[in-house]
Amino acid sequence: MIDYKSLVWEGLLDLSAYVPGKPVKELERELGIKNIVKLASNENPYGASPKALAAIKEYEKEITRYPIGDSFYLREEIAAFHNVDIDNIVCGAGSDEIIQLLYMAFLTSDTHALAPSPSFSEYELLARGLKSSCRWVETNEDFSINFENLLNAVNAKTRFIMLANPNNPTGTMFSSTEFISFMDRLPENVLVVLDEAYIEFAEGDFPDAVNLMKKYNNLMTMRTFSKAYGLASIRCGYLVADKECISLINRIRPPFNVNAAAQIICAEAIKDQEHIKNVVVLNKKGKEYIYNEVEKLGLEYVKTHANFMLIKVGDGKKVFDEMLKLGVIVRFLGGKRLQEYIRVSIGTEQENQVFINALKKVLNK
Ligand SMILES: Cc1ncc(COP(=O)(O)O)c(C=O)c1O
Repeated sequence: MIDYKSLVWEGLLDLSAYVPGKPVKELERELGIKNIVKLASNENPYGASPKALAAIKEYEKEITRYPIGDSFYLREEIAAFHNVDIDNIVCGAGSDEIIQLLYMAFLTSDTHALAPSPSFSEYELLARGLKSSCRWVETNEDFSINFENLLNAVNAKTRFIMLANPNNPTGTMFSSTEFISFMDRLPENVLVVLDEAYIEFAEGDFPDAVNLMKKYNNLMTMRTFSKAYGLASIRCGYLVADKECISLINRIRPPFNVNAAAQIICAEAIKDQEHIKNVVVLNKKGKEYIYNEVEKLGLEYVKTHANFMLIKVGDGKKVFDEMLKLGVIVRFLGGKRLQEYIRVSIGTEQENQVFINALKKVLNK
């Protein structure tokens, strides 16, 4: 028998696999019940644009051949949407892959990324997987980003700053004024990744990343089709950045990294902004319903700019476990700051009602 553990690089044994939100089918299997409600992965409960889904017919014709290697036609649509050149864009198998490609290209074992905490855990896992690191910088008490602390944490070895706006798991957002003041004070060779996975849901004043790139050459923005577009299983995200940055990433990007279904369906999805508008309106209604119900229960929560929210429930892990038994999957993130919270994705009207009823039951309210 081979001792595989003895063959891996030092550090791999300290890593644990990313734990995604529990799949519905898994809980069905475990509990032997149906009608499970999953509000754990910030998916869009209303689904994808019907126009995008109709494009599956086109995909059927392409299934036997390798996909287009550089996602040309999809990049063409993305470029038109953002009013940038096609060479400013690279597509990936989800924004997860974009983060990995960026890290592979620019992060070394003696440089690091920085990110506000709490934020998306993959910023750290992917860095560690590449024998580097992501250092977490605490946010303020209300989870807003402390840009002063972030700037103070920057040193000559800082290669990336990863900023999700709106942030996961807090739903908080920073303004363009705060961001511009931060960018003005940041050394130019620190690369700033604005992760806009939830930007479609944001309201108010937030940085116009693509426009700001004209001023800040170290700024790039990442988007995904997994959230507002309702295409999480397709695995497709993209990066808008400086052309040289994109061309360097292309040297390490695996050929055919974005499958043909994703390329064809996402190219249609991005053209259907009416669908996104409708999703955003429905999300807002759902959000207000949950705010209202949670307030009636006397619970604290964090106001959100995304399609999920943090609710302070006491023992977060216990509430998460009890909700599972009732067939409602939410997320417990734990860590230093979130022991007392659950994160719930905003679902359909009916799913939100099921969630609130389950929460009342679990909290004996
Ligand atoms: C902030 C943030 N960025 C990136 C991702 C990755 O999304 P995907 O790989 O599905 O594009 C997620 C997923 O939850 C996220 O919350």
